[in-house]
Amino acid sequence: MLLQVLGTAAGGGVPQWNCACPGCSGARAHPHWRRRHASLAVQASEDRWYLVNATPDIGDQIEDCPALHPGPGSRRTPIAGLVLTDAELDHTLGIARLREAGAGGLELLTTGPVREALLTGLRLEAVVGPYTPLTWRDLPLARPEPLTSTSSDTPNSTAAPNSTAAPDSAVTITAIPISAKRPRYAADLPVPEGDSWVVALLLTDRATGATAVYAPALAAWPDALQSAVDQADCVIVDGTFWDDEEPRRTGISTRTATAMGHLPIDGPGGTAERLAPLGARCLYTHLNNTNPLVDPGVPQYKRLADRGIEVAGDGMVIQL
Ligand code: MLT
Ligand code: MN
Ligand code: ZN
Repeated sequence: MLLQVLGTAAGGGVPQWNCACPGCSGARAHPHWRRRHASLAVQASEDRWYLVNATPDIGDQIEDCPALHPGPGSRRTPIAGLVLTDAELDHTLGIARLREAGAGGLELLTTGPVREALLTGLRLEAVVGPYTPLTWRDLPLARPEPLTSTSSDTPNSTAAPNSTAAPDSAVTITAIPISAKRPRYAADLPVPEGDSWVVALLLTDRATGATAVYAPALAAWPDALQSAVDQADCVIVDGTFWDDEEPRRTGISTRTATAMGHLPIDGPGGTAERLAPLGARCLYTHLNNTNPLVDPGVPQYKRLADRGIEVAGDGMVIQL
């Protein structure tokens, strides 16, 4: 299984356009501090990739990843579809950026609540549908399914429909319900409560059995997530805030990290103590610009390394 890390920042990115905090200022001074919004590309078969989440940086993220470039042919893309872990703006605003898919359409794998939020909260079908048809597919919650496009050819292809059978996927996907945390724009939508507003993804290589868990938003750590990470070879999780007080200490919120829907890395109940005992390769992603880890020189890196934990970087390639 091949994974390409396309971005590792929380909403706003690093630097954030209106922010002069130490992390954002540092990123303006030192380009290697910069991080794009958190996203991952998963190779489903030789020339078919799924993007996990569609960030505001999606155009630049595709350009920076040669495997995602179009061709051969003028309008043929290897991007077969989008998988969404939630309906947050930092994970969905990029969908409209892909409207040039045109007649080929865009395939979106989501849970029911995420689809409802995008349809009724963001009016995505009404806004993007006139440019390119959207095909909605349910993320499998109960059992793994092959990560294969329902369309017969890659989106944006100029080939005649059904001219090429979709190749078998090398990867299966299952969604693990995490929490009922809704985006703010969806606060009052008449969508039932339920913990599949935010999911983690379990990706399995069908040939080798290697597994990866991708969970960029963790308001909770349910038993099903623990079972998945216990078995996994690679675990990439929410590293938005270093500690629970960070949002209050830095003045970006009156709430703690946990109250904002992001379990902190450090401290009692933090995610580091859950990752440390795992046999998997463990990495953090979705770093907020207030997180001290934005500065690559901070001692917190050694504290993580001592526990066998890494911080994902933009452009990282993970082969399992
Ligand atoms: C989050 O991760 O909590 C959200 O993406 C916040 C936001 O709206 O940027
Ligand atoms: Mn976010
Ligand atoms: Zn900042």
